[in-house]
Amino acid sequence: MEKIKDALEKAKSRAEQKPVHTATLAPAAGPTQENIQELANETNLNAINYTNTKTVELSAQHLEKNRIVAYNKSESATWIFDKLRTQVLQKMQENNWNTIAVLSPTPASGKSFVAINLAISIANQPQKTAMLVDFDLRKPRVAKYLGLECEKSLNDYLDGRAVLQETLVNPGLPHLVVLPTMRPVSHPAEVLSSARVNALMQEISSRYESRIIIYDLPPILNADDALIMLKKVDCALLVVGNGMVKETEIEEAMHHIPKDKLLGVVLNKAEVSAEDYYY
Ligand SMILES: Nc1ncnc2c1ncn2[C@@H]1O[C@H](COP(=O)(O)OP(=O)(O)OP(=O)(O)O)[C@@H](O)[C@H]1O
Ligand SMILES: [Mg+2]
Repeated sequence: MEKIKDALEKAKSRAEQKPVHTATLAPAAGPTQENIQELANETNLNAINYTNTKTVELSAQHLEKNRIVAYNKSESATWIFDKLRTQVLQKMQENNWNTIAVLSPTPASGKSFVAINLAISIANQPQKTAMLVDFDLRKPRVAKYLGLECEKSLNDYLDGRAVLQETLVNPGLPHLVVLPTMRPVSHPAEVLSSARVNALMQEISSRYESRIIIYDLPPILNADDALIMLKKVDCALLVVGNGMVKETEIEEAMHHIPKDKLLGVVLNKAEVSAEDYYY
């Protein structure tokens, strides 16, 4: 853990003008819900219309099994994501950012876990709305972790068999929309660079202007997908799996993220203590 902290410290000093926010996540245990000062925001929620969006009720048991803790407000670990949400929203608001890529240096750091819980936590806030897009076209996991079975998904949109509206799902939370990917996509880097994906991102952003859009992606060091997407999003949240990544891999990943787009770093799978929470 010390080595990871050192690497993150180095990264923090590299980002001199825009300090990196770091947070530690350990959803397995944590103090009970604490009061978080929420951001006042003037988002116009009346603009949201779910008439044409499918609503799917999620299974609490399935979510718990997949560590989607933010869904259940009585779950003690939700405070961690609420705190992360507050930090993320503050910085996004300061910079007028709406789109965020969730990245990691290497696989299995917990990107999908963080992306889903963060999206739910944002959607739980009355003045905010969130959209979660599964752009990990190599190993899509959002639908699986949420327990969504969808007839139409991003796969159908990309193949020209569905329009965007048919692929969107509202998972029973008023302010959350998910764009799931049900199957891996061939040539993902090319697809993410394509005019079709550009059009999709444009449509999402223009249709849901006031919404926070979270893109779940593959790891930075294993493919160019994340690098392609970094050019198209406002900012990036780097998830580092505690004990799962070398210091050099963190540094290399940081090197790929433009300084002015690094929203922060989440140290995942770590024990939470008051001393560790900020550093
Ligand atoms: N803080 C945590 N505590 C315990 N288990 C965790 C934690 N975060 C994630 N996991 C588990 O680790 C596994 C990998 O998580 P996840 O799929 O979110 O990683 P990922 O970075 O998206 O992986 P990939 O690189 O394959 O996309 C999952 O089984 C998830 O439930
Ligand atoms: Mg993932």
